[in-house]
Amino acid sequence: MTAAIPARLFHFVAGNNGPWRIEGAQCISGAPLPAAARIAMVPDSPGFHPDRASWSLRGITSNERYVTRDEKTALVAKQEGLGRPQANCAALIPIRKTAAWWALPQDERRHILEAQSQHIAIGMKYLPAIARRLHHCRDLGSDQPFDFITWFEFAPADTSAFDELLATLRASPEWNYVDRESDIRLVHAGD
Ligand code: HEM
Repeated sequence: MTAAIPARLFHFVAGNNGPWRIEGAQCISGAPLPAAARIAMVPDSPGFHPDRASWSLRGITSNERYVTRDEKTALVAKQEGLGRPQANCAALIPIRKTAAWWALPQDERRHILEAQSQHIAIGMKYLPAIARRLHHCRDLGSDQPFDFITWFEFAPADTSAFDELLATLRASPEWNYVDRESDIRLVHAGD
């Protein structure tokens, strides 16, 4: 018997179908995404092609680039996974970073992300209330509209904490390197 291989490539398909109802969509920077009513997050499968989508994005989970051993140990101890029944709110936030960011060497990017911006230390304070999954887009091809697709799930009561976290990160030096971002808020409306 072979164990199932967990999916790494996900499609985010916006249109009139899908279990997640769009409650609000805000363009933070760069070009906006077209309006839609629903979103489906679909693991890739052979021959999958999004039909009648208003827009569709792809992203793939990957190895971590920046976390230290101590940070990883702390994250693993505190974080919870997606799909918790009480966490029926979600945020889909696609992000693109500037050419200047990508021209930096790894150690300088880590310095901005953590020494200057405390991205991981700040984010850690919001665990386990906020569950997250980071998807990378850059290595899927040079035509990708975003570099990352971030996905977060939380209970309705944690919405203001999530907004506070976002405001803190957006005010940090790391966000000087973000040139396209949309913030799409969702509620699970059943399959
Ligand atoms: C919920 C609390 C959060 C925690 C614990 C957290 C933690 C992390 C960690 C550990 C990484 C680095 C992964 C690696 O080593 O490659 C990361 C990357 C990232 N996070 Fe967060 N994060 C949180 C919230 C957020 C929020 C609210 C956003 C905004 C949308 C965000 C956007 C990103 C992006 C775009 C990256 C990739 C950065 C890059 O590789 O340049 N995170 N996060």
